[in-house]
Amino acid sequence: MPEQFAARWLTLREPADHAARDDTLLSALIDALPRDRTIRISDLGAGAGSNLRYLGPRLPQAQEWTLIDHDRELLDQAVAMAHPADDDGAAARVQARAQTADLGGFPDCLDTPPDLLTASALLDLVSEDWLRRVVDTCCRRCLPALFALSVDGRLAFSPTLEGDWQVAAAVLAHQRGAKDMGPALGPDAPAVAAQLFRERGADVHCRPSDWQLTPEQAALQRPLIEGWHEAARTQQPDAAAAIDRWRDERLRLLERSFITVGHQDLLVIPCRD
Ligand SMILES: C[S@@+](CC[C@H](N)C(=O)[O-])C[C@H]1O[C@@H](n2cnc3c(N)ncnc32)[C@H](O)[C@@H]1O
Repeated sequence: MPEQFAARWLTLREPADHAARDDTLLSALIDALPRDRTIRISDLGAGAGSNLRYLGPRLPQAQEWTLIDHDRELLDQAVAMAHPADDDGAAARVQARAQTADLGGFPDCLDTPPDLLTASALLDLVSEDWLRRVVDTCCRRCLPALFALSVDGRLAFSPTLEGDWQVAAAVLAHQRGAKDMGPALGPDAPAVAAQLFRERGADVHCRPSDWQLTPEQAALQRPLIEGWHEAARTQQPDAAAAIDRWRDERLRLLERSFITVGHQDLLVIPCRD
């Protein structure tokens, strides 16, 4: 994805991401973290810092975040926007630093041992091999983890169109294609992660965090539909004409379009007291 587009897309999706996340996981997360000192948090694939802006104000402890990504421009934006300009309290309580690194080398990119490993909108991009390394690291180090907003394959449209299910199937297949870190888990990521952690005896809390997009969010729906159109065309080049028609009809419906995109938030606590 071109850098400018990536930054614009992350900015557009942030309000929908924050509205979708499951607040009920927070109390179990807070209970699993040290209360009497500053906690260190590593955010994998931190992008422009949306996860920090969601979680930072909701945790009572002082926090030192390490934002890890291979995109330096996004990380600079994340550090610059780590707290609201009018909130000096947040600036004192939530510190952020950027670390440019390729996550492929995990766990070597964890240069300081964290108290919490977290990521948002990342798990569906990773391979099972990479995920197994994360599971192993968390379980061996008794390291709690919060993985937010992983797509789980549920898509719903209103009004519906004849082409919806063909495009949805192609998009899901595309999400399972090769990415930076190998063949991606795509919509299987939350279930596979939950299973791998449970096999290691971890407590796993899984909650839906769906996008429920309304016509008021047409500015987000438009690039979403265009991105799905491109993915479906790549996946099914022989059906290009039908997929183009689907995109044109979907965009024409934007003023009355509702789209649900299924996601899961996963909180993992590997070691019980
Ligand atoms: C969908 S974005 C999510 C960004 C952010 N966590 C959020 O919720 O807005 C995925 C992020 O993972 C980063 N990423 C993907 N593959 C990576 C890799 N191999 N090494 C480091 N970062 C990677 C991308 O640069 C991007 O910022």
